[in-house]
Formats: sequence, C-alpha cells, structure tokens
Amino acid sequence: MKINVMAATGQLGRKVVEALLDQGAAPGEVIASARTPTKADDLAARGVTVRRADYEDRDTMRAAFAGTDVLALIPSTAPVEPRILQHHDALEAAREAGVQRVVFSSLSTAAFPASRFLVTPFLLYAESRLRLSGLDWTILRNGMYLDPIAGWTPELVEMGQLPYPVKQGRTAYICRDDLARATAAACLNSEHAGQIYELTGPEALSMPDLAAAVTRASGHRVRFDSVTEDAYAEVCRQGNEYVPEYLIDILISLYRAVDNHEFETVTDHVERLTGTPPEAAEDYLRRVLSEKK
Ligand SMILES: NC(=O)c1ccc[n+]([C@@H]2O[C@H](COP(=O)([O-])OP(=O)(O)OC[C@H]3O[C@@H](n4cnc5c(N)ncnc54)[C@H](OP(=O)(O)O)[C@@H]3O)[C@@H](O)[C@H]2O)c1
Repeated sequence: MKINVMAATGQLGRKVVEALLDQGAAPGEVIASARTPTKADDLAARGVTVRRADYEDRDTMRAAFAGTDVLALIPSTAPVEPRILQHHDALEAAREAGVQRVVFSSLSTAAFPASRFLVTPFLLYAESRLRLSGLDWTILRNGMYLDPIAGWTPELVEMGQLPYPVKQGRTAYICRDDLARATAAACLNSEHAGQIYELTGPEALSMPDLAAAVTRASGHRVRFDSVTEDAYAEVCRQGNEYVPEYLIDILISLYRAVDNHEFETVTDHVERLTGTPPEAAEDYLRRVLSEKK
C-alpha cells in the first residue's frame, strides 16, 4: 500500500511521515509530497519517495499523487479563499490520479457550524467537499496545538504572564506528535474509512490551568492575565516573530472560539486509533523544555 503525505515538509507533515515509518510502513511505501522537495532531502535519504506538489498547481498534484492508495491531506496555511480553491484542486487531482482514500486533517471547530474561528468556513467546505468527492475518506478534527506554547515559554517567563483574550473557555490542547501518530494510524488501517475522529488531549485546561502547567514545567512563575483583544494584538505585534495583521485577526478569532467552548471536548480517539493515550500538557512541556536545555 502506498501512502502519500501532502505538505510533508511542514511541522505536522514531517511528523506524519516519521510516524508512518515508526508504525511499520516501509520507506518505499511512503511518498512525501512537498512544494519545496529539497526540504525533504533527509527523508529521501531514508528511502522515502519525494515528489513536488504545489497546492496552487493541480498538474503537479496529479503527478505527485499517481500510484497513491491513501492520501494524508494536510491543508496549507494559505488564507481561507485561496485555500478553498486549493482543496478543490487537490481532490480533483486525487480523483484523477486514482487515489482510494483521503485522510483529511481538519480542526475541532468544524463541529461548530456557527464557529467564531475565521478559518472554519474553509473547514466546513473542505469536509463537505471531501464527503461528496466519491473517494473514500477519513476526517481527523485536530485539537489546538500545544507546541507553540513550548516555543513561546521563554517569552512568557520574561513577561511573567500568559496574555490571552480568553474569559472562561477551556482547551483540550494536543501536541503535533500525538496528532501525527493518530494520522498515521488512520492512514494505515482502511477500517477507518467513513469515520470522523476528534483528536484531543487528555484534559480540558482553563487558561489558569495552562499558566500553572507552564510555571511547573519551566520552574518560573507565569500567571494568566485575561487581556483585551487589542492588548493581545499588541503582544503579537511586539513578539520576536513578525505576525501579519490578517493572522492577528485569525488568532483573535481562535480565542473567541475558545470562549465559545469549541476546543473543550475531550475524547479517547487518539488512544482508540493508536493504542496509546495522548500526552498531558504539563508532561509535554517538561519533555520539550528539557530537550531544549
Ligand atoms: N491545530 C492547530 O492548533 C493548528 C494551528 C496552526 C495551524 N494548523 C493547521 O495545520 C496544518 C499544518 O500545520 P503545520 O504546523 O504543519 O504548518 P507549517 O509547519 O507552517 O507547514 C505548512 C506546510 O504547508 C506547505 N504549503 C504552504 N503552501 C503550500 C502550497 N501552495 N503547496 C504545497 N504546500 C504548501 C508548506 O510548504 P513549504 O515547506 O514549501 O513552505 C509547509 O510544508 C495547516 O493546515 C494549518 O492551518 C493547525
């Protein structure tokens, strides 16, 4: 069976390729499709087939998907409208290439038709379009990534605060490692066709809970401050990494979705797919922060 990972050089895509190999796929059974194939030279050196596939160019996708049985479709990070066109073209290319099943990486907010998150209209379209495609499908609604919190921890420690525009929402954070394990497992077993899985962490944390986890994992006191949306936008503008204004609007909408309880559900679907429960936030933060030392 040939499994093809689209956007394989992204942070999630790369982990999905690695999880497929960990779970017993032979390198010759895995295809890594990437806009920038040179970023996958290390995967090619391990025997993985690397092909160029650009979401903006359907012909490259049709060629890259040839001979694929299962396509792990990880969307790009493009704005919503171009992403809708990219998804349409990717599914047409998959159909033309004879792909049997698509395993689509969606997001928790897709369970909320009136979601407050600005990207959800793409997700609602993408899931529906896939279900109408005539291809077999599996939908994975990914929970909110934990990974950026670990990356942000040095700045949080410096500020002494976790500044999010959240009032009462809880979030069942999950790390990309667990999402990748679950995605690989969903690809490797055709019994997951026709299923929607909600991939969440093991507990729904309030923002004070998350600040306490950062405090214990880092050894430095970080308190939660519920800030206004304007104050949060300023934090984004003044951070170490440049964040474009449209992305700040998207991030603010993400925290409106948190307050709308769109990331709160906790499921056992990661364990059901992989046999192993997902890592708790504090354990993940301890692990990653100690690796960075
Ligand atoms: N669950 C969450 O909390 C959460 C948070 C953020 C994002 N996401 C979503 O998760 C998905 C992947 O996230 P990630 O963390 O892996 O992101 P990432 O590390 O930024 O990777 C994005 C990948 O998309 C690829 N890409 C962008 N435009 C492309 C195009 N036109 N054609 C082909 N590939 C293209 C990039 O390729 P290059 O290597 O060539 O640049 C890169 O490999 C995205 O759909 C994103 O919206 C989820």
